[in-house]
Amino acid sequence: MDFFKKLSNLKQQHLYRSRKVVDSAQDTKIIIDEKSLINFCSNDYLSLANHTQVKKAFKQGVDRYGVGSGASHLVSGHSRAHHDLEAALAEHTGQERALLFSTGYSANLGVFSALKDELDWILQDKLNHASLIDGNQLSRLPLQRYLHNDVASLEKKAGKQTGQGMIVTDTVFSMDGDQAKIDDLQKISDFSNAILMQDDAHGFGIFEPNIPKKSIYMATLGKAAGTMGAFVSGSDDFIDFMIQKSRPYIYTTAISPAICVATLKSLDLIKQGEQKAKLLANIDFFRIFSSTLGLPISPSNSAIQPLIIGDSEKALLISQKLFDQGFYVSAIRTPTVPKGTERLRITLNANHTQSQIEQLLTQIKHALQ
Ligand SMILES: Cc1ncc(COP(=O)(O)O)c(C=O)c1O
Repeated sequence: MDFFKKLSNLKQQHLYRSRKVVDSAQDTKIIIDEKSLINFCSNDYLSLANHTQVKKAFKQGVDRYGVGSGASHLVSGHSRAHHDLEAALAEHTGQERALLFSTGYSANLGVFSALKDELDWILQDKLNHASLIDGNQLSRLPLQRYLHNDVASLEKKAGKQTGQGMIVTDTVFSMDGDQAKIDDLQKISDFSNAILMQDDAHGFGIFEPNIPKKSIYMATLGKAAGTMGAFVSGSDDFIDFMIQKSRPYIYTTAISPAICVATLKSLDLIKQGEQKAKLLANIDFFRIFSSTLGLPISPSNSAIQPLIIGDSEKALLISQKLFDQGFYVSAIRTPTVPKGTERLRITLNANHTQSQIEQLLTQIKHALQ
C-alpha cells in the first residue's frame, strides 16, 4: 500500500487532518504555538474541565484511589467511585440504573453490541454521529437512514418494518446543534414495535433530558461535564443485560476512579445551574449579535453554532484567518459533514465573555468579505 500517495491525495483535496498541540489547560483561553487564543472549538460547554472544584475533587480521587483502575469493571476495576457515579447518573437522568463506559464512542458501540441478536431493523437519522453508525455496522445489524429530523420520513420507513426495531437519534446534533423531536420519535417507536435510543452527548448538562419510558439514553462526560467517559441509562434489566452482553463494556479497562470522583463534582455543579445559566445567556447573546451582523448562522439553540461555508478549502482558509487573529474555530469538512456543507463549527462555553463573542463575530464578518 502506498500510504504516501494516499496522504498526498488527501492533501490535494484539502481533506488532510492534522493536530494542534495545546500547551495549556482546556479553557476559553488556550496556548498553541506560544500564542494565546480564544477557544471557540471546545466541547467543554460548561467550562468545567479546568474548574477549581472539579480539579480539587480529581486530586482527592487520586489520593484515595491512585491513578489507574487496574482492570475491567467485571474483574477488579469497578471501584466505589465508579459505583457512586453510576448511581448519581441514574438518579440525575431519572432512570433505574446507569452504566459507565470509557468514551462515548465505546458506549454507542456497546449498545449495538449488546443488542446484536435482538433487533430486526434499525432506523437512524441521516446526521447521526459516526459512533452510532459504526456501532450499527460493526455489529452487522441492518441499517436504514431517514431524512434529518424529518418525522414524516421516519414514519414512512418505520411503517414498512416488521419485527423488533430500534430508532436511533442524536439528541442535539453534533455538527448542526439542532435538536431531535424526542416526543414524536417515541410515538413512532410505540406504534412500530421499536425501542428509541438517543445520544445526548451535546445536550447532557445543558438541557433537561427528555427520556421516554423504556427508551435507551446515552450521554458523554467529556463535553459539558468537563471530564471523560460516558454512560448509558435505562431500566434495571436493560443495564444488567448490557453488563452481560456488551463487548466494549466487558473487554476494556475501567476509566480512572479519580475521574469519577471529579465527575461527581461536575454533576453537583451541573445541578447548581450557575454555569448552565451563563452558557444559555452566551447562546442568546451570540444569536442576537450574529443576526445583527447579518451572519448566516444555522438555526440552533445549543452551544453548537454552525456557519456553513460549503467548501473545504474556503472553510480552512477562514479558520486559519481567524487563528491568525487569535480565535480558534475549527473547520469541519467531509466526511464528518456531507459534501457541500463544510463549515465553521463555533462552540460556546459558559466562561466566554460577551466581549469575546462580539470580537469573534466581528472577525468572522471581516473574514467572509
Ligand atoms: C453525538 C456524539 N456521540 C458520541 C460521541 C463520542 O463521545 P466521546 O468523545 O466521549 O467518545 C461524540 C463526540 O465525540 C458525539 O458528538
